[in-house]
Amino acid sequence: MEEKRREGLLEEKRLFFPPLEFRSKAVIQNSEVHELARDREKYWGEQGERLHWFKPWDKVLEWNPPFAKWFVGGKLNAAYNCLDRHLEGARRNKAALIFEGELGDRRVLTYQDLQREVSQFANVLKSFGVEKGDRVTIYMPMIPEAVIAMLSCARIGAAHCVVFGGFSSDALKDRILDAQAKVVVTSDGSYRRGNIIPLKESVDQALRGVSCVEKVVVIQRTGHPVDMKAERDVWYHEVIRNVTHLCPAEPMEADDMLFILYTSGTTGKPKGVVHTVGGYMVGVSTTHEWVFDIKDEDVYWCTADVGWITGHSYLVYGPLSNGATVVMYEGAPDYPEKDRYWEIIEKYRVTILYTAPTAIRTFMKWGENYPAGRDLSSLRLLGSVGEPINPEAWMWYYKHIGGEHCPIVDTWWQTETGMIMMTPVPGITPLKPGSCTTPFPGVCVEIVDPSGKPVPKGEGGYLVVCEPWPAMLKTVYGDDKRYVDTYWSDIPGAYFTGDEAKWDEDGYFWIIGRADDVINVSGHRIGTAEVESALVDHPSVAEAACVGKTHDIKGQSVFAFVSVKEGIEIGDQLINELKSHVVMKIGSLARPDDVFLTAELPKTRSGKIMRRLLKDIAEGRAMGDTTTLADATVINFLKKNIDAHK
Ligand code: PRX
Repeated sequence: MEEKRREGLLEEKRLFFPPLEFRSKAVIQNSEVHELARDREKYWGEQGERLHWFKPWDKVLEWNPPFAKWFVGGKLNAAYNCLDRHLEGARRNKAALIFEGELGDRRVLTYQDLQREVSQFANVLKSFGVEKGDRVTIYMPMIPEAVIAMLSCARIGAAHCVVFGGFSSDALKDRILDAQAKVVVTSDGSYRRGNIIPLKESVDQALRGVSCVEKVVVIQRTGHPVDMKAERDVWYHEVIRNVTHLCPAEPMEADDMLFILYTSGTTGKPKGVVHTVGGYMVGVSTTHEWVFDIKDEDVYWCTADVGWITGHSYLVYGPLSNGATVVMYEGAPDYPEKDRYWEIIEKYRVTILYTAPTAIRTFMKWGENYPAGRDLSSLRLLGSVGEPINPEAWMWYYKHIGGEHCPIVDTWWQTETGMIMMTPVPGITPLKPGSCTTPFPGVCVEIVDPSGKPVPKGEGGYLVVCEPWPAMLKTVYGDDKRYVDTYWSDIPGAYFTGDEAKWDEDGYFWIIGRADDVINVSGHRIGTAEVESALVDHPSVAEAACVGKTHDIKGQSVFAFVSVKEGIEIGDQLINELKSHVVMKIGSLARPDDVFLTAELPKTRSGKIMRRLLKDIAEGRAMGDTTTLADATVINFLKKNIDAHK
């Protein structure tokens, strides 16, 4: 796929114009919006007005490269903007969250309901001594209490650190420790394809030897028996009972921290990406309205888990700040049947669907009969995020889900950017299948060579952001140096995204993939270094090197090359053990599809592992230049045995 994008994709010439019906009612109909936003500070200042500020800002941007402060001097609260401000008018009794459980249970929370429960839980957190600036880890399934916990933190000015429920207890522990969380919010378990995943048990393991956490709040979801540690553990339904729902929203400086979200990079240690209240809220609120063309009558469904940035920005903060009705689904797309998504769309008359290419490819594999058996006529707009979407999947989505009348917004962005950075604006942008089209108004993205010089149209290079943008990360938690080194040191004067991209003669952007040692598995970022350090943690392993291998459904899968210590027996048993070891250290999302055992890894004479060759081997293609190899017999061994491995 990467190769295909690099070489062939610019030949994709199909253009899809916004249907007249859509365009005539779109939030943005003026095709000059990009031009009008050229004065970025003015533009973002205007967008700032969409929020409620306790105190107006003095200055839109203070830029001391690479540290930005947005809406300097302004005071606001994210939860207030998502809830309280909608209570004055007609939105008070509007559905904010429509929750569908995997077992078919349903809960609808109006804006008023949500505001009440958030205020109550905020008071509970306060009673546990959580104060402005403290950190709260949230390790939860996709249930309304996850959103309630996030907004409760925001209400009192504590930073939440949501850890995806699929991460293992080891990974959870690292993140709790890095953030020095005071409270953990979790549930007894979560449902997945009818099975129970014991989240509380993982929390108990993670907290062994951890002293910063004072309280663990447990939401009862599955009802199976769990251990409750006296003094530390409390049930949500018990502590929230009889608590007052009056809790004033803390006025936060625009530059105060709203949350930390951990993401993978090129080193073994995940980075705590810090987002602030003001810039982030303006960024996600604006993009959510403009990109999803959101109107009061819409039923908007984002399928991302709250454990990822997409869940933060486009399931919680963006849509709720815009007063939208959001569908939240707990479970798997194939439970109990492979048409569960389409059933949900039919049931709630969903108008906007935002999902990932990996899901679309899976649906393609299952066949069009599943969506065809449901009424999807309510849909008017589709979105895609997380990885490059191949034109075949785009066309399938367009035809079989969108009925050839829904524009598709292919949105490019990252945990660090906080908000969508490249995307069609659906009422005005002609679409090309597989391209995320152009930068959002007020955002400056370029493709450059290693010296930072923009490449001409028709060529490719590194994708950078050349001007600050409101939802940009503030720093890496507790490590400004890492922030500077990771993002602002590779390309002079610009934020380096880690991606490689091309642009065509029309100025449309085509993402090729990561240019660094990050693998994108089903839209999830996996650092090769993280998987490698999980592997070398196993007693039989001497060294490990991982690369991404093209995968039809997941986009990429992890292919691990492992050299074992002397005297260790090589065989299937060890391979399975190593895969399980990675699951235990990180979570099943990082499980290598392939583990190739060898006595030695191919290295250059200076001792560097030759990943490029490993990648060639993993992809099953002819190997590139091997002249710098220290020991050619290693590669011959790998070559000979890889066929047996297949
Ligand atoms: O490589 C890009 C890919 O996902 C990376 C960011 O991953 P993460 O921080 O986990 O955020 C994912 C959700 C925003 C990017 O560096 N990526 C994301 N969206 C797209 C994409 N690649 C191609 N097209 C996209 N629309």
